[in-house]
Amino acid sequence: MKSGRQVHVQGIKRSLLLLIALIFFISVAYQQIKPEPQAPSSPSVPQKEMAYAFDSKPSNPKPKTKAELQREKESREAFMVAYTVFMHPRCMNCHPNGDTPLQGEDSHLHTQGVTRGPDGKGLYALKCKNCHQDNNIAGLNMPPGQPNWQMPPAHLKMIFQDKSPRQLALHFKESKFTGFKNLEQMIEHVEKEPLVLSCWHPAQGLTTPPISHDEFVAKVKEWIEKGAAIPVN
Ligand code: HEC
Ligand code: HEC
Repeated sequence: MKSGRQVHVQGIKRSLLLLIALIFFISVAYQQIKPEPQAPSSPSVPQKEMAYAFDSKPSNPKPKTKAELQREKESREAFMVAYTVFMHPRCMNCHPNGDTPLQGEDSHLHTQGVTRGPDGKGLYALKCKNCHQDNNIAGLNMPPGQPNWQMPPAHLKMIFQDKSPRQLALHFKESKFTGFKNLEQMIEHVEKEPLVLSCWHPAQGLTTPPISHDEFVAKVKEWIEKGAAIPVN
C-alpha cells in the first residue's frame, strides 16, 4: 500500500512528464510551420526581355547623348509609319472604340446588329463564324474570312480607333491594355498572326494597308529596338 506522500510525488512526476511531452510536441510543430529561409530573389526575366519590359523606369536619369537622342527620334519616326497601318480600315475595323466592329473603307458600324460579345466572337445568333468563313467569299460586299475571325474580347478591347500616335504607343507599352507580356511578343504578333496577315489579302474591292507587310514588321521592330519612344502628339 502506497503512502499519501508517495502518491503525491508520483502525481508530480506524471505532470512533469506530460509537460515535457507537450513542450516537445509544440517545438516539433513549430519546426514544421516555420517558413523556409527565403532565397535571395533573382530576376527571372532574361536581360534582353528586361529592356523591353513594360512600365520600366529609366535607370540613369543622366542627360541623353546626341546618339541616344537620334535613336529616339528614329524610333518615333518608325512608329509614325507603323501608325498608318494600325489606323488603316483593314486593321482598325476590328479594333473599334465601341462594341460593334466596323466595315469598309469608311469604317461604318457593322450592319445586322453584330456586336463583340464577351469573347469577341459575337453574341447569341450573330457569331462572327456564322458569316465569316475560313476564306474570303468571292464577290463584292461578301464577308472576308479567316479560321479564327473575331475581334478582341470584352475584357481587353485593344482599341486603336481615335487614338493619336502618342496614345497608341502608350497603349502598346501598358500591359494591362494588351494581350502580350512584352514588346517582343508584339513583334511576333504583327509578324505571324493570321488575322494581321489577312489584311494584305482582303475581300474583293477592299484596299490593303499603305505599306507592305514586311515593311510594316520592320517598322514595328525598329520602333521597339530603338527604345519604343513615345511620339510627342
Ligand atoms: C450576319 C453575318 C455577319 C456576322 C454575324 C458578322 N459579320 Fe462581319 N461582315 C459581314 C459581311 C457581309 C461583311 C462585308 C460587308 C461589306 O463589305 O459590305 C462583313 C465585314 C466585316 C468587317 C469589315 C472588313 C473590312 O476590312 O472592312 C469586319 C471587321 C467584320 N465584318 C467583323 C466581324 C466580327 C468581328 C464579327 C463578330 C463579332 C462579325 N463581323 C460578324 C457579315 C457578318
Ligand atoms: C478580324 C479582326 C482583326 C483584324 C482585321 C485585325 N485584328 Fe488585331 N487583333 C484581333 C484580335 C481578336 C486580337 C486579340 C488577339 C489575342 O488576344 O491573341 C488582336 C490583337 C492585336 C494586337 C495586340 C496583340 C496582343 O496580343 O495583345 C495588335 C498589335 C494587333 N491586333 C494588330 C493588328 C494589325 C496591325 C492589324 C492590321 C494589319 C490587325 N490587328 C487586324 C483582331 C483583328
